[in-house]
Amino acid sequence: MSRLDRIAEFAVAVREAWEENRLIRLRLSGYEGEEAELKSVDMRRVVIKGREKISAVSHFKTRDITKNYDFDEVMETLLAKLSTEFRVATLNSVSFDLVLERHGQKVRLKQTEIAGREAPPMEHDRAKNRPLTDGGKLWLQQLDLAGKNGRVRNDAQDKFRQINKMVEIFAPLIQGLDAKNPRIVDMGAGKGYLDFAQQVEIVGVELRDRLVADGNDNAQQSGFSGLSFVQGTILDFDASQADAVIALHACDTATDDAIYQGIKAGAALIAVAPCCHKQIRRQMEAGSADGRLDFLLRHGTFLEKQAEMVTDGLRALLLEANGYRTKVFEFVSDAHTPKNNLIVAQKGGGGSRPAALDRIAAVKAMFGIEKHYLETLLDP
Ligand SMILES: C[S@@+](CC[C@H](N)C(=O)[O-])C[C@H]1O[C@@H](n2cnc3c(N)ncnc32)[C@H](O)[C@@H]1O
Repeated sequence: MSRLDRIAEFAVAVREAWEENRLIRLRLSGYEGEEAELKSVDMRRVVIKGREKISAVSHFKTRDITKNYDFDEVMETLLAKLSTEFRVATLNSVSFDLVLERHGQKVRLKQTEIAGREAPPMEHDRAKNRPLTDGGKLWLQQLDLAGKNGRVRNDAQDKFRQINKMVEIFAPLIQGLDAKNPRIVDMGAGKGYLDFAQQVEIVGVELRDRLVADGNDNAQQSGFSGLSFVQGTILDFDASQADAVIALHACDTATDDAIYQGIKAGAALIAVAPCCHKQIRRQMEAGSADGRLDFLLRHGTFLEKQAEMVTDGLRALLLEANGYRTKVFEFVSDAHTPKNNLIVAQKGGGGSRPAALDRIAAVKAMFGIEKHYLETLLDP
């Protein structure tokens, strides 16, 4: 039997297992393709909005990305993937495991019979954490995310996904807060997409009166009694009672204003997805960075990326210096927004303040930074 015949045989077994509802998991591993840091992909059957899909979790070195596909979409690319990209594929079905291994031009198939396995329960989409799946809700239409027919607009899909992801991430963090009725403040709330989606008590702080008035009207009409918007600047808002401070794409240093307000209030949770990063970039452009970094910083595109990472890296360190433990990760794929980093800081266990301050000083010296704007707020 030729190499391609074996791969085709494996694909047939996958299709049969799918059609007979006997597929437990399909794993592709030993990745040899061009996608940086991809290690393996795990696939299983899920039901989303009543339709059976394949949920594929791609495991990268430092993160996982989940996407859902129609089964036929997966099958269309499976043969090519097994021929060139993945060296190993494992099908776990109810009654057997089938392993395909490719070594150069040779392909081996090994089947092991298994007794006593049950078909897996199908995981349904988590409606609770995905409030935006119902495009018929009035607030979604008022925010122009959904049309009158109740469907999410095509041009709103990226925003829709970002907000869903945020809700998925925030829901357990908010549930984990000690406060029984946590007070949450969204800084630079804009139209309040995130606030309507969270469906918890929340105050949105926003500079622009029009957005504030529209947000309050929308909250009232949609029956969101726990949601309100106030007009004003982030720094002027009295956040002293806040348990959680969040900010999604608050412009440039408005993100620092939000972090500062959270630290000042001693909020248990601070979570920000930063937007543009001009303040640090300007200082890095001034040219007093360590000369060894010149090979990066002289190229505008690298400078931009470095400024973004240095700004957010320093934000995370400043949070640590102020008693927070921090994580920085991508909350959604950059296909949906290039501003896809989320800094999540939880009060307590932030490590040693002097050590964090030493690291901040070292990073600033390396990149020729005089002062991060957040430092100016914390230590004027
Ligand atoms: C890019 S929008 C993001 C809005 C919203 N968070 C979202 O993700 O859809 C940033 C918002 O922050 C507001 N903003 C910027 N600086 C602010 C400040 N210092 N105080 C209050 N609001 C501010 C702007 O008016 C704008 O509506």
